[in-house]
Amino acid sequence: MTFQELRKKFIEFYIKKDHKEIQAAGLLAENDPTLLFVNSGMFPLVPYLAGQAHPQGKRLVNCQRSFRAEDIEEIGDHRHDTLFEMLGVWSLGDYFKEEHLNYLYEFLIEEIKLDPKRLYQTVFAGSEYAPKDLDSIEILKNIFKKYGINAEVGSETLGKGELGSGQEIEFGGNARIFPYCDKNWWKRGDAVGELGGPDSETFYDTARPHNPKFGKFCHLNCDCGRFIEIGNSVFMEYIKTANGWEKKLPQKNVDFGGGLERITMAANGKTNIFETDAFDYLIKFLEEKSGKNYEDFAISFEIIADHTRAVTFLIADGGIPSNKDQGYVVRRLIRRALVHLRKIGVDFREAETLSKLVISRMSDAYPDLEKNKSHILDEIKKEGEEFGKALKNGTKRYLLMTKILSKFTKNDDKNLTLRKEVFNLYQSFGLPIETIRDLVNKDGLKIDEEGFKNDLKKHQELSRKGAEHKFKGGLADQSEQTIKYHTATHLLLESLRRILGANVFQRGSNITGERMRLDFSYPQKMTKDEIGKVEDLVNEQIQKNLPVAFMEMNLEEAKRLGAMGIFESKYGERVKVYTIGNEKTGIFSREICGGPHAANTGALGKFKIKKEEAISAGVRRIKAVLE
Ligand code: ALA
Repeated sequence: MTFQELRKKFIEFYIKKDHKEIQAAGLLAENDPTLLFVNSGMFPLVPYLAGQAHPQGKRLVNCQRSFRAEDIEEIGDHRHDTLFEMLGVWSLGDYFKEEHLNYLYEFLIEEIKLDPKRLYQTVFAGSEYAPKDLDSIEILKNIFKKYGINAEVGSETLGKGELGSGQEIEFGGNARIFPYCDKNWWKRGDAVGELGGPDSETFYDTARPHNPKFGKFCHLNCDCGRFIEIGNSVFMEYIKTANGWEKKLPQKNVDFGGGLERITMAANGKTNIFETDAFDYLIKFLEEKSGKNYEDFAISFEIIADHTRAVTFLIADGGIPSNKDQGYVVRRLIRRALVHLRKIGVDFREAETLSKLVISRMSDAYPDLEKNKSHILDEIKKEGEEFGKALKNGTKRYLLMTKILSKFTKNDDKNLTLRKEVFNLYQSFGLPIETIRDLVNKDGLKIDEEGFKNDLKKHQELSRKGAEHKFKGGLADQSEQTIKYHTATHLLLESLRRILGANVFQRGSNITGERMRLDFSYPQKMTKDEIGKVEDLVNEQIQKNLPVAFMEMNLEEAKRLGAMGIFESKYGERVKVYTIGNEKTGIFSREICGGPHAANTGALGKFKIKKEEAISAGVRRIKAVLE
């Protein structure tokens, strides 16, 4: 079964069970203050899990491309990928554990024919906030019985198997359901207002022998890789408050996410996601180009395949290599893929070929890839050239440095200088830490890894502070004309989103009494027709003489209302939300903003776009006036 077929089967299966397919979101989490990337299917559903009615009902299904930057270091173990497709199912206050677990096992066993003997499940063992999940245990026992398996409950343990003796987790017997104390509470984050709850993970037994390097005894969450998690069912009834997790959601939700690549692996009796057709074409290409065996260079092959696939999607969704936020991650992924291409003796330029292969394999399900093809390839090419330059300059700089270092007599001075230099090469020259490590090791020296981590942390904290400042301003003064331009900027942003699409986000603005300037994310030049439509939409709102008003609320509330500008704010913060229009006239725009604004749009005059241009790849600038 191909991964494309499996994706389709999953959606169709749940549609038959009265679910509605919902659209997936882009990968860049522009409207979230805590996360840079969409990392699970529930991400865009938070308001609905919290109780708001979803326009498509209470039973939802989709496939959501998801990106987990935190897994970058895990790539190379045959089962992790930074970009994956998450098969998602939700019950928003409709059915709960019983129906969900039954549907899930029906899909896995009857639809895609997984051997039930290879399936295992963890459950929540209980904590100060919630009791042990006895319901799921009973339900699971019955499900296994249906498939002829007498499933027993194994002993409770911690995530690494520390609690309990270890021997108790014995797979020869009938134990199939394992309560974990610390692993089975899913939450999106730890801030007040986050949603979460006990979860129950489904594991597939690859039957690979346990590797004792990872501990004397194997268990479901063991890192040896014998058992691979293929899905996670979250029973989401809790919300984080100042007192900890409290059962305060108005409804009981199910939030299920399954890894398409891993389920495909299991359905095809494989033990490695890179051997499925979601990746194998990239591995084959690399074998051909390098003349090397995948098994001999597995880590490099997997990093290259994963990163080029991830980068292709991230750029299509608006990510651009840069030194900040999401762009920084895109840059890091490309450069790391290039380092590993070089390691296996393949030219940098083949990164573009790999991306082309991804586009042609994935475009059926993701037509945006084909649409953005030249933009994606162009960004990868440019980044390759930039990196080539960085490597040359960085290496030159390092060689110079080692000459200086050799003159040092005191070891302390030498170490400190080297530490500074390592960070400089990383930050200012843009070399990946692997490359720097190689350079330094060649000289018989060692990077101060702890020191590097600290320097990086300090730097990130400083950049965050900088970002907080950046968003406060925008207005040159508070004259009447400037204030009118400010209101027009809100109208413009919303109009751009309505005409060009919801992937348009504000990247910056600068307003004086003479003109306004708005920078926004959008991959291509606007057509004359689009410019005309945007102007018309803004002018329509001006003619309607819509009222402009603000309300103060906390960020969660603003988020529920769908206000723009969430990303710049912090959890728990009180924010002002400016609304243009009201219930009577219809609401046109909602943004988190400090103000001030005109009281009515009618005062604005006639809006005219003077110029539309690129300021960097993927970011456009509009200059406009009110006549
Ligand atoms: N949201 C859950 C997860 O990401 C399903 O594991």
